[in-house]
Amino acid sequence: MSVSIDSAEFRRILGHYPTGVCAVTANVDGAPVGMVVGSFTSVSLDPPLVAFFPDRKSTTWPKIETAGRFCVNVLSHNQRAVCQALSSKAENKFESVAHRTSDLGQPIIEESVAWIDCDLEAVHEAGDHFIVIGRVRSLDVAHSGDPLLFLKGGYGQFAAIVESE
Ligand SMILES: Cc1cc2nc3c(=O)[nH]c(=O)nc-3n(C[C@H](O)[C@H](O)[C@H](O)COP(=O)(O)O)c2cc1C
Repeated sequence: MSVSIDSAEFRRILGHYPTGVCAVTANVDGAPVGMVVGSFTSVSLDPPLVAFFPDRKSTTWPKIETAGRFCVNVLSHNQRAVCQALSSKAENKFESVAHRTSDLGQPIIEESVAWIDCDLEAVHEAGDHFIVIGRVRSLDVAHSGDPLLFLKGGYGQFAAIVESE
């Protein structure tokens, strides 16, 4: 017997777990596409794999899937406007988003903290989302700025309580 979980309660409680905010981008027929995800994570070192979880309802994910490769841009705390643009349903999300093209042909968003260029390795079904695995081909830290963080429906910035040694 499965226990029924209220979806609003699920969101509220899971919202207590903080995430970073990334923009997953791809070039599709020469035009940049992208979506914001909080579900990005590293998976494996050998081979180097990362993952994110697109909603089945996403209209951008099928375009990225068609491209067969994507770039994960770790957004900085001063890229709220980029976050807003790429999480919208606007027709041309990249109108006001400055970007360049990576050596592997994917959009790198200017001022992102880091970028990770990937080939699409696997897609698994998981309820109303997919689990997308990317094989890392190239990556770099582009800016020393702090990443944008998301917690309990709000945005913030990291504050160290212990400095790294
Ligand atoms: C902070 C934040 C985190 C998000 N995380 C995800 C995510 O992990 N997976 C997902 O499918 N959508 C996520 N979204 C929503 C998508 O960014 C947004 O719905 C989508 O890109 C816009 O719809 P489209 O895919 O049809 O273009 C997130 C949005 C925000 C603002």
